[in-house]
Amino acid sequence: MEGARQELAQGELYVRERAAAEEDPDPVPALPAAPVVIRGDGLVLREWTEDDLPAMAELFDEPGIAHRTPLASPFDAQAARAYLDRARATRADGTRLQLAVTEDGATPLGEVLLGSLGAERPAGAVTLGYAIGAAHRGRRLALRATRLLTAYAHTTLGLHRIRLQIEPDNAASTGVARAAGYRLRTDVPPTTGTQKGRTYTLQVWEHTR
Ligand SMILES: CC(C)(COP(=O)(O)OP(=O)(O)OC[C@H]1O[C@@H](n2cnc3c(N)ncnc32)[C@H](O)[C@@H]1OP(=O)(O)O)[C@@H](O)C(=O)NCCC(=O)NCCS
Repeated sequence: MEGARQELAQGELYVRERAAAEEDPDPVPALPAAPVVIRGDGLVLREWTEDDLPAMAELFDEPGIAHRTPLASPFDAQAARAYLDRARATRADGTRLQLAVTEDGATPLGEVLLGSLGAERPAGAVTLGYAIGAAHRGRRLALRATRLLTAYAHTTLGLHRIRLQIEPDNAASTGVARAAGYRLRTDVPPTTGTQKGRTYTLQVWEHTR
């Protein structure tokens, strides 16, 4: 009886904690001042540098990325310059963390990022995003990078909830989400918008700890 009551009390506490987490945003995480490097599962995630500009243009000037992400298209040298400048500015103001996905710490194969980290974000809506160069897809790079950055967000940044926003027909991205342990939030209304002349709908996937 006592055990059952204790179990119930713990259950109630859990429900209350969950409800509070639903209502209250995570605290705004402080990104480390030093460049972030995350290693594991055969990958090194590291911040973009000036030397990456040509690789960025090579990776991101691609129809799949143009279709599914807000990245500029064509993604030429000028777009790469603007992208790196913006990445640096948003890193400095603490709202985004953009990391090159590499295997050797040097050659970029894609990108994984945390966005909406700033104080003005909506409750519980820190987002994770990814894009892998077309030549490097199908090697679980996105999956491994997502797992690493999700774990970093939970443990190092102390975030309770990380979200992905994915178009329902983006099979590759929903494959990454599912394999990385994210769950589709069917109770959160999808958002719609217009980008590059087409209307998109984004469903919310979530990873909580
Ligand atoms: C989405 C994207 C990042 C996936 O990158 P990737 O490195 O090839 O993906 P992974 O190899 O890590 O695949 C992870 C899982 O998704 C599945 N998957 C990958 N591509 C898939 C596809 N085209 N169709 C169905 N499932 C797919 C894999 O089978 C794997 O699941 P498994 O581990 O159970 O086998 C890449 O296709 C991309 O950059 N697309 C364009 C940009 C984009 O859509 N970004 C996301 C916006 S929300």
